[in-house]
Amino acid sequence: MNAGGSTTEQGLAGRRVLLCVCGGIAAYKSVELVRRLRDAGADVQVAMTDAAQRFVTAQSFQAVSHRLVRTTLWDAAAEAAMGHLELARWAQLVLVAPATANTIAKLAHGLADDLVSTLCLATDAPLAIAPAMNHRMWRHPATQANVAALVARGVRVIGPDDGPLAEGESGPGRLREPLAIVRELATVAAQ
Ligand SMILES: Cc1cc2nc3c(=O)[nH]c(=O)nc-3n(C[C@H](O)[C@H](O)[C@H](O)COP(=O)(O)O)c2cc1C
Repeated sequence: MNAGGSTTEQGLAGRRVLLCVCGGIAAYKSVELVRRLRDAGADVQVAMTDAAQRFVTAQSFQAVSHRLVRTTLWDAAAEAAMGHLELARWAQLVLVAPATANTIAKLAHGLADDLVSTLCLATDAPLAIAPAMNHRMWRHPATQANVAALVARGVRVIGPDDGPLAEGESGPGRLREPLAIVRELATVAAQ
């Protein structure tokens, strides 16, 4: 598929999307997500948490996004090229996928103690999150309260899906499939 894909995804053509990848087992699926976003015509900049880099390398995302991946706030060269506040302004849409329970909690409480949480706090762009975690973490009242707080602020929550989870259990917590995430993000872009 390319920028001439379905009408729904065309809403992303030419859009600058900041994709924030967190440290969950589903992080590898975000490599395909980048490809799908680019197929839809989006310009994708990836930022990763420290934990995300334990699951997937920045090089994988760099190869599919054709952009240097941002991995830390404390990178003088990256800051000189495009400071984090400039990057937050650059983004027309911010997608956190997979969104961990930890990062969801940080976003809900307005923390800014790493690159991803700082970018999310510093942007005016619409924010969407695609949670992925163990079903008990997802169902935990703390996570549900954090998600409700984000929804109340206008954050779009994409998924999670119900089904088999990586650790062998089943329940709500699966990352939504990349193409489905792209389609839902396109509806955010259209708003
Ligand atoms: C093997 C493994 C898999 C994990 N998978 C998930 C997950 O799918 N979702 C989640 O919320 N946390 C998961 N965690 C826990 C997070 O990695 C941990 O909370 C981390 O602090 C998240 O950091 P971040 O939000 O900055 O990326 C996992 C941890 C390990 C060791």
